[in-house]
Amino acid sequence: MIELIDKKKLPRHVAIIMDGNGRWAKERGRDRLFGHQHGVISVREMVEGCAEIGVEYLTLYAFSTENWNRPESEVQGLMELLISTIRKEAETLHKNGVRLYVIGDFASLPQVCIDELEEAMNITAGNTKLNLILALSYSSKWEITEAVKKIAQQVQNNTLAIDDIKEETIKQNLATANFPDPELMIRTSGEHRISNFLLYQLAYAELYFTHTHWPDFRKENLYEALLNYQNRERRFGKISEQLK
Ligand code: FPP
Repeated sequence: MIELIDKKKLPRHVAIIMDGNGRWAKERGRDRLFGHQHGVISVREMVEGCAEIGVEYLTLYAFSTENWNRPESEVQGLMELLISTIRKEAETLHKNGVRLYVIGDFASLPQVCIDELEEAMNITAGNTKLNLILALSYSSKWEITEAVKKIAQQVQNNTLAIDDIKEETIKQNLATANFPDPELMIRTSGEHRISNFLLYQLAYAELYFTHTHWPDFRKENLYEALLNYQNRERRFGKISEQLK
């Protein structure tokens, strides 16, 4: 299927809501963490797949602000999985030219997690092949609230006039200031929701939903999503004829 993809019409930025780990595990009579562990294999596949094909930015929704409300054992298991995965994979990411970023309420993460992520971000800081952005303790409403606070602070300090607040000002104060907006958002496991993920940045993104659970999501599934994206007409509010 990869040969059908037009490399000149790739999205620069793909964002993914990795859903269905719990259901995948339940279908196998296992606990939810078993699903998350298998989800890591899919994460690796997507990082490889995006780097190979030439997608420049990949954002993964790994842990939402709301996920803190899950049972303590699951939250702890997810944090441990994150720490061990970053520890194991940082060197491989680096060798493959991947640069790691985190968006979200970084300070709310356990200190070991912060240390591990900071180290991996430092090691990979010079890489340019693929930008891998992990949304951790992230929610769009949190991010927009933070942006409003930052902008209000600038107004209060007299470094920004109210009339100078433009769309660009909002963009520059979001956690994603340095990244282009995603052109394609994928959600696995059948739910048709955005779930507080990149609400501002997805304004014109194509949304792709699949029933495949995240632990079953492989490169072929990514190619299918990319092909589906390439067969859509992106009009940005214009009419078909204006695009020709
Ligand atoms: C959603 O499935 C998945 C999560 C909340 C966690 C995703 C985490 C990983 C794939 C592993 C760690 C990631 C990295 C980047 C190393 P769910 O639990 O909501 O599934 P359900 O809807 O079927 O219950």
